[in-house]
Amino acid sequence: MRGPALIFGLVLALFVAYAQSSLTKRADNSFAGTNLYFLHALPKVEQETYVQTLAGWGVKLVRLWVTNVDTGCLKGSTIVDAVPPLEAIVGTYDTTVLNKLDDTLKLLHENGIKAIISPHNANSLTEAYLCDAYCNKYTDGTTFYSSTEAKADYDNRLEAILNYQSPNFNKPWKQLSEVIYSFNLQNEPLIGQIAKLQANDPDDWLCGRAGKIRELLGYSPIKVSTGGVGGSQYCCDHEFNLLEKALQCDALDIMSVHGYMSKASDWAYFITGDKSTLRDGNAAGKLVMVEEWGVSVDFEEDFDTQVQVFNDAGVPWLYWQVVPGLDGSQPGAPSSCGYDSFEIGVNSPKGDVASAVAAANAAIANQTWSGI
Ligand SMILES: *[C@@H]1O[C@H](CO)[C@@H](O)[C@H](O)[C@H]1NC(C)=O
Repeated sequence: MRGPALIFGLVLALFVAYAQSSLTKRADNSFAGTNLYFLHALPKVEQETYVQTLAGWGVKLVRLWVTNVDTGCLKGSTIVDAVPPLEAIVGTYDTTVLNKLDDTLKLLHENGIKAIISPHNANSLTEAYLCDAYCNKYTDGTTFYSSTEAKADYDNRLEAILNYQSPNFNKPWKQLSEVIYSFNLQNEPLIGQIAKLQANDPDDWLCGRAGKIRELLGYSPIKVSTGGVGGSQYCCDHEFNLLEKALQCDALDIMSVHGYMSKASDWAYFITGDKSTLRDGNAAGKLVMVEEWGVSVDFEEDFDTQVQVFNDAGVPWLYWQVVPGLDGSQPGAPSSCGYDSFEIGVNSPKGDVASAVAAANAAIANQTWSGI
């Protein structure tokens, strides 16, 4: 009776394999990484050294921006070649920036790291010194988020980015799930638009853009993330990252949490405490990630203390920002180099990022992150 025994054995083996995989599924681990909005603008060798260092630490995710970068000293690095904006004029595309990002994506892929891509920076609509083509055309954020024409212009930008044909991978970015983990709607959509945030996005800008990205993605498993609605989360009048309209939007997968807190307990309030974003995300069926956080040199508690909140809760995090060069707190750091005091250099004693990433990778995740 070999046949039935063999079949029984096979069925048993399949059952055991299934049971094990569903067990591992429930015990997915957390992960971590960093933002570096100008990575694509760095010389190739510097990008390689940096990405290899991150990979050596076990970093799984890096957040990149579709942004122009000027030449000069930038956070401890030297930008040799300027990167022009995707749209110097709204609707006219120069794909140099996408081409450079594509080379960075190739490098990340070779090192087992995926990317979140932010297609635009909302701060360039509200800050005079960053006024870009959309700011020039629509003058202010209020008009940008409500005008039908502005929405159409922005959707065209999203289309130019998602349909961009990758020279390195020979397919459009929207199909690059092997290296692109998620597209943000924008970096910090609706930042500075307090009235619109308090009115729960009356123009449906968030879900409208999410729907556009979802439509472009088709069956691609790349996830759609908010990019940090309203900018940083802070107590008690600035808690917009999990705006109701975003939570209720089917086309959104990830609620990006951004915040800069002086103490670990301030983070605990938003992660596991009274205003737990994990609890609220779980209730709405959304993933929650700390997509931007940073520790200023003058904060009350340091990197090592604060990062424990995320790792203890099993919530993935991306630091703002681990920089390839010296950070501003290190001896010998260049002056006039655009520091914002949050940077941590790869070899800086300011924070033990390598150990924190290892702790993230060892932590059981609060939610199931497929495809990381
Ligand atoms: C996820 O986090 C929430 C909020 O802190 C908590 O209530 C829940 O028990 C956590 N679930 C897991 C599986 O860790």
